[in-house]
Amino acid sequence: MTDTSATAARPGLFISFEGIDGAGKSTHIAGLADAFRAQGRQVTLTREPGGTPLAEQLRTLVLSAPMDPLTEALLVFAARRDHLAQVIEPALARGDVVLCDRFTDATFAYQGAGRGFDPGTLAVLEQWVQGREGGTLRQPDATIWFDLPAETAAERLAGARVPDKFESQPVEFFRRVARGYADRAAAEPGRFVRVDAARTRHEVWQQLTGALVRRGWLAIMVAARPGG
Ligand code: TYD
Repeated sequence: MTDTSATAARPGLFISFEGIDGAGKSTHIAGLADAFRAQGRQVTLTREPGGTPLAEQLRTLVLSAPMDPLTEALLVFAARRDHLAQVIEPALARGDVVLCDRFTDATFAYQGAGRGFDPGTLAVLEQWVQGREGGTLRQPDATIWFDLPAETAAERLAGARVPDKFESQPVEFFRRVARGYADRAAAEPGRFVRVDAARTRHEVWQQLTGALVRRGWLAIMVAARPGG
C-alpha cells in the first residue's frame, strides 16, 4: 500500500549519546538538537538517569548516595521505565527526534563493567523495561559513542567541577567503563557510531554529523552549520 498523504508523519528517531565522564558529549548534543530543528524536526532533548520528575529524583539518589550495585541497577532501570513511558515512547510516536544523553549502554558500562555487576542480570532488567511485543527490545536507532582514553578524560575533568559519585572514581574504574563501552560497540556495530573524542571539538562534530548524513537522517547543509 502506498501512502499518498502529504502530511504523513515522519517516523521518530531515537539517538543516544554515550562515553565515560569527561568525553565531551554535552555541547555536541545541543548542537545536534539545533541541526535537527533547522531541518524542521521536533526534538525531544532528554537524559538518563532522568528526564521525568520521578526519574530526576532517582538520578539525585544514584549520583550521590552510596548503595550496592544491585540497588543502583534497579534504580536506574526504574528511572528508565518511567522515562520511556512518560517521555521517550510518546515522543517517538509523535515523530520526534529523541536525543538522549545516555541510555542502557551506560548501565552495562558503569554498573556492569565498572562496578562488576552481573551483565546477565542487567540483560533481564533490560528485557523487563525495554521489552516490546514480538520479543524485541526498545533500543536507540543509533548510539553515538564518544571514545576517549580514561587518562585523557581524567585530565579534562581534573578541577573542572565538584565531582559526583561516579566522577570521583579512580582512573581504573573508567578504564573498565571504557572497555564496557567497547564491548557493547563490538557486539552491535550497526547501532554504534564511534567518534574519536580525543580530536578537536570541530573534528568530533564532523565525525558525528558525517555519520548521521550517511544514514540519511541529517542534511549536509544543516550538518555543516557552525555551532557544533
Ligand atoms: P552525565 O551523563 O555525565 O551527566 P553530567 O554531565 O551532568 O555529569 O552523568 C550521569 C552519570 O550517571 C554518569 O557518571 C554515568 C552514570 N550512569 C550510570 O552509572 N548508569 C546509568 O545507567 C546511567 C544512564 C548513567
